[in-house]
Amino acid sequence: MIRLLTPDEASAHRYELCELFFECKAAGSLTPPDIDFCRKKVDEMIDYLSHSKAYCFAYCENNELLGFAWTCKLYDGEKMLMHILYSAVSKNHRGKGIGSLLLSKCDETAKSENLSICELNVSKINPLAAKLYMKLGYKIHRDHEDHITLRKEL
Ligand SMILES: CC(C)(COP(=O)(O)OP(=O)(O)OC[C@H]1O[C@@H](n2cnc3c(N)ncnc32)[C@H](O)[C@@H]1OP(=O)(O)O)[C@@H](O)C(=O)NCCC(=O)NCCS
Repeated sequence: MIRLLTPDEASAHRYELCELFFECKAAGSLTPPDIDFCRKKVDEMIDYLSHSKAYCFAYCENNELLGFAWTCKLYDGEKMLMHILYSAVSKNHRGKGIGSLLLSKCDETAKSENLSICELNVSKINPLAAKLYMKLGYKIHRDHEDHITLRKEL
């Protein structure tokens, strides 16, 4: 049910991905989401995937993309880690474990790449998502003005 998207598959699911970026933006920002921002994010993601610079895990049912997690390897100045850039699940399918499954795929992939940390940023106005990440083993790494960097030791 969860698979890695190729750049072509990401293009084919452009509309759903755009909607999910919209959800991310809406959940983490006080300003109204901007559809151009979402379209640009989809293009950026496809570009990353085309250059093998990122992974996009997707949860699909009946060829409909219901959730995704976009991750990339990142050097933090000391070590390489797996950074989760964006993740979202379609509104009508939340609370069924899809988000947790996507994040466990990120853990699995990080481990297979010999990385020992998964990292993500969560907005301070998105406590539900922060609660989920803490439940999955993430801990506060750095407190910023408008967001928190969370890390999970694998
Ligand atoms: C955060 C998110 C990806 C979780 O996906 P999910 O499939 O609902 O996650 P799961 O079913 O595995 O886990 C549900 C948990 O997430 C929490 N959660 C966070 N936002 C939620 C929402 N809008 N609806 C239901 N549960 C939500 C619940 O508290 C629940 O915890 P519980 O099991 O203790 O009750 C999803 O809610 C989402 O897409 N939110 C909007 C975008 C977003 O905030 N993305 C993350 C930052 S970019």
